[in-house]
Amino acid sequence: MKQSANWTRKHLIGLENVKPSEIDVIHDTARSFRKTLGRSVKKLPSLRGKTLVNLFMEPSTRTRLAFELAAKRLSADVISIIGQSSSLTKGETLKDTAKNVEALNADMIVLRHSCAGSSLYLSNVVDVPVINAGDGAHEHPTQGLLDSFTLRDHLGELKGKKITILGDILFSRVARSNVFALTKLGAHVTLAGPATLVPSGFTTLGVEVCHDLRAALADADAVMLLRIQHERQSSTHFPSLGEYTSMFGLNQNRASWLKPDAIIMHPGPVNRGVELDSALADSKRSVILNQVTNGLAIRMAVLYLCGVASDLEKKGKKK
Ligand code: CP
Repeated sequence: MKQSANWTRKHLIGLENVKPSEIDVIHDTARSFRKTLGRSVKKLPSLRGKTLVNLFMEPSTRTRLAFELAAKRLSADVISIIGQSSSLTKGETLKDTAKNVEALNADMIVLRHSCAGSSLYLSNVVDVPVINAGDGAHEHPTQGLLDSFTLRDHLGELKGKKITILGDILFSRVARSNVFALTKLGAHVTLAGPATLVPSGFTTLGVEVCHDLRAALADADAVMLLRIQHERQSSTHFPSLGEYTSMFGLNQNRASWLKPDAIIMHPGPVNRGVELDSALADSKRSVILNQVTNGLAIRMAVLYLCGVASDLEKKGKKK
């Protein structure tokens, strides 16, 4: 695949330092892979003989399944280790766990962990590619890539497009990765929600912060809802979920403030009736399941590109 000639990263830790041209390479590669998803014979030989280990220390449905399927579609062997069933519960360190995975000749590690910086740390202690599948409230790069890919499908080029991200921004790795991806692609990003969850300091990332929901929705081409991430909140940032919903939940009435062709996105899992009305989640303007399908193509692209870069690095070291 010609796109791999323009990709040199072995690891994918975050989008903060990724160039716009690199996002284009991933999106172009994902677009090629997406064409293969509907075939009756879905397997491609791209990663034949490779072994991927998914280390998931936090719960996941979409990301883990998509990485597993992506590896299988590319003919790699894949094993998933879930935190609660691993020897991490017996006191083994993350480094020792990864070193043992490497000793068993794994070729790539996908890591989800509650600690921000865990993927970067791991990439410094193992030789194989490390792909961040979400590290604390830091980044979730493949989510940012699949969301921007989905937005390009529906809105075309993103330069000048207005994207509102609404909800728990403070604790969201999805918001951060999307801010990095979307601003690099020229979109105008507005972060919206209660001031306790959307502090004005986020403007340093080159985005607008808005606590007026109507204003944040009025001219958006797309609105991305985020759930309240209780697992990362150590104190209360609003009186109750009911009060959050009554002030910031996207319901039918508030959706009428959106432009008629504005799309609704959500990375999942959706808390129906909290941040997003159930009927809106299933409505024609919702692209939530398109995001999930695109997540498979994006993970195929990331595994393929990082795998090729790693092989080239190995060949260079042997010379
Ligand atoms: N969007 C996302 O990361 O979903 P999961 O937690 O189910 O992987």
